[in-house]
Amino acid sequence: MHATNAHPLISPVIPPHPSLTHANWLASFPLRSFLELGAYENAAGSARGHARNVLAEWRLDDLSDAVVHVVSELIANSVNATGKVRWAAGLPPVRLWLLGGAGSAGTGEVLVLVWDAVREIPRLGVAGPLDESGRGLGIVHALSGRQWDTWLPSAPYGGKVTRALVDHPWRDPE
Ligand SMILES: Nc1ncnc2c1ncn2[C@@H]1O[C@H](COP(=O)(O)OP(=O)(O)O)[C@@H](O)[C@H]1O
Ligand SMILES: [Mg+2]
Repeated sequence: MHATNAHPLISPVIPPHPSLTHANWLASFPLRSFLELGAYENAAGSARGHARNVLAEWRLDDLSDAVVHVVSELIANSVNATGKVRWAAGLPPVRLWLLGGAGSAGTGEVLVLVWDAVREIPRLGVAGPLDESGRGLGIVHALSGRQWDTWLPSAPYGGKVTRALVDHPWRDPE
């Protein structure tokens, strides 16, 4: 991957995670992108294309399949959840940050953060073999090696953020 030094520019503000007390946590993610999308059905497709392009720019193609899947599931969930609420002021957007860095092994890692306006923590369900839904968070759970969580940022951010760290390529089980 490119060796890129952290730069002082601040991208659209990421709602702070409650456990991240050190202000400089972003320093280990010198590669940063932000995308805001309308909460419409095609948002997941747009986000997938964006993620694939950005990871190629970052020379993190090995992580691309895993990151694209995680992005797709999280954005699809946020679009679904946003669409289920009646919003007085119009449909709020969904937001995606991709943060890239070398990772502790030096082989690259990508932190995916997805914001939506719905104040509800998603729960990992248990999909049965014949269920057609309920697998999305299971996929995020597996591809991130359980390194994912959700929080409800305080004012003025509102909504919620789900984040997942991808630091291993997705290996097709054959
Ligand atoms: N962003 C979200 N906001 C609110 N609830 C969510 C969100 N993401 C997931 N959920 C809840 O968690 C459930 C499980 O999500 P998931 O595993 O992706 O399965 P599916 O999307 O197929 O229902 C969803 O049905 C929904 O109730
Ligand atoms: Mg889903």
